[in-house]
Amino acid sequence: MESAEKDKAIGVMDSGVGGLTVLKQLLNVMPSENYLYFGDTKNLPYGEKTKEQLIEIVKEIFAFFEKQNVKAVVLACNTTSATAYEELKDKYSFKIYPLIQTVSKCVVLDKSLDRIGVMATEATVNSKKYTSELKKNNPAVEVFEQACPKWVPIVENQIKDYDEKSVITGYLNSVLEFNPKKIILGCTHYPYLLDKLVKYAPEDLFINPASLFANYIKQDLLKRNILNTDSSGSVSYFASSEPDVFKKNAKLFLEIDSLPELVEL
Ligand code: DGL
Repeated sequence: MESAEKDKAIGVMDSGVGGLTVLKQLLNVMPSENYLYFGDTKNLPYGEKTKEQLIEIVKEIFAFFEKQNVKAVVLACNTTSATAYEELKDKYSFKIYPLIQTVSKCVVLDKSLDRIGVMATEATVNSKKYTSELKKNNPAVEVFEQACPKWVPIVENQIKDYDEKSVITGYLNSVLEFNPKKIILGCTHYPYLLDKLVKYAPEDLFINPASLFANYIKQDLLKRNILNTDSSGSVSYFASSEPDVFKKNAKLFLEIDSLPELVEL
């Protein structure tokens, strides 16, 4: 019975390819797990949607995961962690791992990080979820959140001909003025832009939360005795529109052998 639970898949979701930054780290620390990655290409960008819209979208994706009988779901998406998680967390048989809530706990373990910048989508910044979660774990921390609405479309559409300096520094400079000890890349798409960001600020200033997140999930599955350590591991991909575009864009981070299966929401 216990081993059957271990063998069940882990659902991972985001609006498109961004969550692959998290999946990559999950594969690094838990290579024997079976993953179902859902890229909701139909509904991106999530950052422009309302809380109500996002709750309805996540419900549809969770219904898909429920049918697949997963043992856990990773919200590899800051925006839905900020807006939909609290509403949905107790309504499913599987445990849900939300990105912001999990990572905030880990980041403030280092008490010297008393000034933290966050770059995220508009919906995440409007929710002030990073500020409340970081302060919950360390009331002394000062947080500055900056929305970067132009960045997700650049990554998802692989736009190359944009005015890099103004698009990057237009958001980054206001965070740098706050003089943060670290800047959390609070949207899973943003690590794709790290090679641009490091032209304007030191690389060690940025936190890509994916690795902290993946390690936390591994420890939790281990504690719950449902960590899969003895299968060969697998990943199946699903997209809610244009699987070919998803496959092409996914290359930025992970090579995908087969076309994702189209799942219409
Ligand atoms: N990558 C997601 C996040 O971490 C959502 C980005 C979007 O679709 O706007 O917030």
